[in-house]
Amino acid sequence: MCGIVGYTGPRDAGPILLEGLRHLEYRGYDSAGIALVADDGELFVEKRAGKLANLRSALNGRTPHAGIGLAHTRWATHGRPDDRNAHPHVDCSGAITVVHNGIIENFRELRDGLVARGHVLVSETDTEALAHLVEEAYAGDLAAAVRSALGAAHGAYAIAVMHRAEPDRLVGSRMNVPLVVGIGEGETFLASDVAAILEHTNRVIFLEEGDLADLRPWGVTVTGPDGGPRERPVSRIDWTPEAAEKGGYAHFMLKEIHEQPQALRQCISGRVRRDGRIRVEELGPVAPRLAALSRVELVACGTAYHASLVGAAALQAWTGLPARATVGSEFRYSPPPLDPTTLVIAVSQSGETADTIAPTRYAREQGCPIVAVTNTVGSAITREAEAVLFLQAGPEIAVAASKTFTTQVATLVMLAAAIARERGSLGVEEETALGRSLLALPAAAQRALDLSVGVAGMAGRYAGSRGFMFVGRGTTFPTALEGALKLKEISYVHAEGYPAGELKHGPISLLDADCPLVAVATRSTVYDKLISNVMEGRARDARVIAVASEGDEQIGRFADDVVLVPDTHEILGAVLAIVPLQLFAYGVALARGTDVDQPRNLAKSVTVE
Ligand code: AGP
Repeated sequence: MCGIVGYTGPRDAGPILLEGLRHLEYRGYDSAGIALVADDGELFVEKRAGKLANLRSALNGRTPHAGIGLAHTRWATHGRPDDRNAHPHVDCSGAITVVHNGIIENFRELRDGLVARGHVLVSETDTEALAHLVEEAYAGDLAAAVRSALGAAHGAYAIAVMHRAEPDRLVGSRMNVPLVVGIGEGETFLASDVAAILEHTNRVIFLEEGDLADLRPWGVTVTGPDGGPRERPVSRIDWTPEAAEKGGYAHFMLKEIHEQPQALRQCISGRVRRDGRIRVEELGPVAPRLAALSRVELVACGTAYHASLVGAAALQAWTGLPARATVGSEFRYSPPPLDPTTLVIAVSQSGETADTIAPTRYAREQGCPIVAVTNTVGSAITREAEAVLFLQAGPEIAVAASKTFTTQVATLVMLAAAIARERGSLGVEEETALGRSLLALPAAAQRALDLSVGVAGMAGRYAGSRGFMFVGRGTTFPTALEGALKLKEISYVHAEGYPAGELKHGPISLLDADCPLVAVATRSTVYDKLISNVMEGRARDARVIAVASEGDEQIGRFADDVVLVPDTHEILGAVLAIVPLQLFAYGVALARGTDVDQPRNLAKSVTVE
C-alpha cells in the first residue's frame, strides 16, 4: 500500500526522505515521488512510475538543499501507475503539495466542482483534488486550510501537506488510514509507518481518527476535526531499524520464516506459565461478558483467515459454542445476526485491513464484545476492540505473511483456551497439556526448520509444474489453504487448497503428472481418511509431496517426497506443518525468479476495500 514520509528540521530533507522511502518499499508500490521546498523558496518535485530506483536515477543523486519535504510511494487506486499520477500532487499556484494514502470516495464530485471553478487538474487521481481544495481554503494558515479541505472530502485518508510560504510547517491528518508523527531533537517527521523514520527517532505519536497534526521542527500540536486540542501520548518503539533489515538472508521472507521460533517464544511468553496454565490477561475487559456468550464469529482476510479457521475449531471444541471464521469482505455485506452475546474476534497482522475493520466496526455497533488479534501497536483495529492481543512477532516486512501466521495460530489457540477456561468448559488437565505443547512450540518450530533444509532444493524439481493441489482434512485443512496461498502469492503458480475429501467431487480431474498433490498429512484424528484421498490422487498419476509427523513410518509408501515435522498437540499442528510449505513456496519462487518480498500486484497492508 502507499507510503508517506515527511520531514521538517535543520538537516537536508532530501536524503532523509529518500532513505525513508527505502524503508517503506516493503509495503508494495508502483511509483514514487518527492517534493522539497528548497532553501531559496522554490518548490522542487520529482516523481516516477516503477521502483524507487527510477526516482533515484531521475534525481541523478541530487536534490536541492531543503529543510522540509514530503515523499511518497504509491499503490494505485485511481488512475494508472504512471509519472503523472504519482504523488506528490500540487495545486494550481504551485505552492501547495499533498501526498495521500487511501481513497477519497467523493473525488469525482470534488473534481467536477474544482474544474467548474477554474482549477486545472492534471492527473487522474483523487489526491490532486485535495491539493486544490487546500488552495481554495488557504488564507495564511495551512492547518486551518487542510481542516477546511478535509471537511469536504469523504473517505479514507492519511495525508501530508506543505505550503511554500510556510517553509518549516508540515500538516498531516488521518481517517481510517495510519499516520504517525516522529519526534526528534529539533526536528519532526510524519510517516505512514514507523519503519520510515525509526533510524532518526523511536519517539512517535500514533494519530487517531480525525486527528490533524501541525508539525514544526520544535514540536507538534494535535487537534481534532473541531479544531480543539487532542492529547496524544508519545510512545517509545523498541524495534531497531536493524530489526527491519534482512540480516544475512537473501530475502525478508526467508528471514521471517527463520524467525518463527523466536517470534513464537515472544508470543507465548507471559501467556503460558511453566506449569502449563494459560493466562491471557489482555482478555480482562471482555471477561465479564464471556459467561453469557451464545457464539463466536472470527473475521479476517487471507492468511489471517486461515489462522482464524484454526481459532474457530479450537473455540468450538473447547467452549461447545458455535464458532466460525468468515472472510472480512463477505462478512461485511452479508453479516450474520449479531447481538451482545456474540463474541467477535478480528484478526489482522497489520491491523489496517479495510475489509476486516469495517465488519468489526459494524459488530461493535451491534453491541458485540470485540477482541482484536494483531501484530501492530497503534493500528486501527485496536481502536475497534475492547480487548487486544498482540502477536509480539516483531516487524514483518515481506508481503507474504509467515511468522504472523504461526503466531496468529498460537495466539488464537491461547485465546480459545482462556475463554473456555473462563467459561468452565476446559479442564485443568486439558489446559496444561495444551500449555506444555505451547511451551515446547518454539523449539519444535526450530526442529521443523532443521528438518526442512532440503525443501527449497526439492521445490526446484517441482517448479515447472502446471499447478498444485494442496489437501488437508480437519485440523490440517487450514494449512493446505495457507500453503497454497503462499505458493500462489510468491511464485505465481496456480495452487488450490482443498479439503481432501472434496477431491473426488470435482478437482480430481485436474490431477496428472503435471499437477502434484501436496498432502498435509500430520497426525490427526482423520489421518487414515486423508491417506485414502491421497491414494485416489496418486492413482491419477499425480506426484505426491507429503508433510507428515516425525515417527510416521508408513507415509513413505504413499508419497514421492516426504518432509517430516515434529509432533505436537493436534490443534497446533498448523504452526509446524506450514514451515516446510513456506520454504517450498520460497524454493519454487526462487527457481522461477519471481520477486519474493514484493510479489506483483500485492501490497502488505490492504487499506482499501
Ligand atoms: C498473506 O501472505 C497475504 N499478504 C494476505 O493474504 C494478508 O494475510 C491479508 O491481506 C490480511 O492482512 P492482515 O493480516 O494485515 O489483515
